[in-house]
Amino acid sequence: MAPEPLTIQGAEHAYPVVIRDGALMDALPAFVEARGFARVAVITNTTVGALYGASLVERLPGAFLIVVDDGEQYKTLDTLRTIYTALLAHGADRSTLVVTLGGGVVGDMGGFAAASFMRGVTLVQAPTSLLAMVDASLGGKVGVDLPQGKNLVGAFKDPLGVFADTSVLTTLPPNEFRCGMAEIIKAGLIADPALLERLQTRDADGIGEIITRAVLVKKRVVEADRLERGLRAVLNLGHTFGHAIEQVSGYAWKHGEAVAVGMVAAGRLSAARGLCAPELVDTVERVLRAAGLPLYYTHLDPAALWEAMAHDKKWQDGTARFVLLKDVGQPVIVDGVTRDEVIAVLSELREEQPA
Ligand SMILES: NC(=O)c1ccc[n+]([C@@H]2O[C@H](COP(=O)([O-])OP(=O)(O)OC[C@H]3O[C@@H](n4cnc5c(N)ncnc54)[C@H](O)[C@@H]3O)[C@@H](O)[C@H]2O)c1
Ligand SMILES: [Zn+2]
Repeated sequence: MAPEPLTIQGAEHAYPVVIRDGALMDALPAFVEARGFARVAVITNTTVGALYGASLVERLPGAFLIVVDDGEQYKTLDTLRTIYTALLAHGADRSTLVVTLGGGVVGDMGGFAAASFMRGVTLVQAPTSLLAMVDASLGGKVGVDLPQGKNLVGAFKDPLGVFADTSVLTTLPPNEFRCGMAEIIKAGLIADPALLERLQTRDADGIGEIITRAVLVKKRVVEADRLERGLRAVLNLGHTFGHAIEQVSGYAWKHGEAVAVGMVAAGRLSAARGLCAPELVDTVERVLRAAGLPLYYTHLDPAALWEAMAHDKKWQDGTARFVLLKDVGQPVIVDGVTRDEVIAVLSELREEQPA
């Protein structure tokens, strides 16, 4: 746990990130009350709302729940419209506070509702999935998907505060927990050797500290590059490969699991190019395996994966760009990787799938 409240400097203001057991039911209501809000819209989904919605609303002044369907397929303009309608039906105005209670889907969509409703109302994020705690709730990016692709409509919106209650992770399904672990491992690999070490020796109650360390990594990166001019790209470690796996599999692969395989691929590509020692690949694989994450894939065609990457919006200028590793904590952005190099690594990963 951080000795003093951790804060993130956003584009407009700095905001606290409170990470601890109980943050949802005590720290968040105290924070809201101290700021004098009289009306609070808690946006959540059917799953998380059923677990925590009523208790949270009870603790907030003039609060009401807006419950949306659960799932990425509902992160749409249609659902957004139902949110605006519910806000108006409850008499929300410019002074209303929006609290998002849920995983990254609720955080992104509810955050975008807050960024756009009446040209913007105040937002507090209460991430309840591990991935939302270490990634989606931080950095100010909010938005929804279009049929043409993910996150195609959105905004930058700094929250007033982020409250990550580690006790809610007890109800998070194990596969969702693993997906959050993939992002935590990514944070360790790009910027925090001690975190990576910690992951290999973790005791059951160390999750608060692990989340805090991963949040500190994202904090450092987004503060250094608030408008995404370049440095933020290191957060994409494993993601170029990962997005291709998600896409080519028709989203049968979950994001965190695809990124796990993507990090193995990035490690192997780094070693193949002589950027890092081969032992680094072992470390990457060991940490991922310990978290129950996949290291290989089957059934997907390496050439199709390459094609998907070539159409990645981050490669618009036509150069094949990857985040690779010189060592733990030493990411490098490498341009001009060839198709042959990538296909070689991808073929290796497919073929090494143990029987
Ligand atoms: N804005 C950003 O910078 C950013 C970064 C990364 C990801 N994202 C977005 O985040 C989304 C993925 O987020 P996610 O992985 O949290 O998915 P999610 O929001 O779909 O949550 C995963 C599942 O866990 C359930 N859940 C969440 N917390 C729970 C809890 N405490 N107990 C029981 N069930 C719980 C949810 O209802 C859902 O079924 C994607 O839409 C992605 O685009 C945004
Ligand atoms: Zn990710």
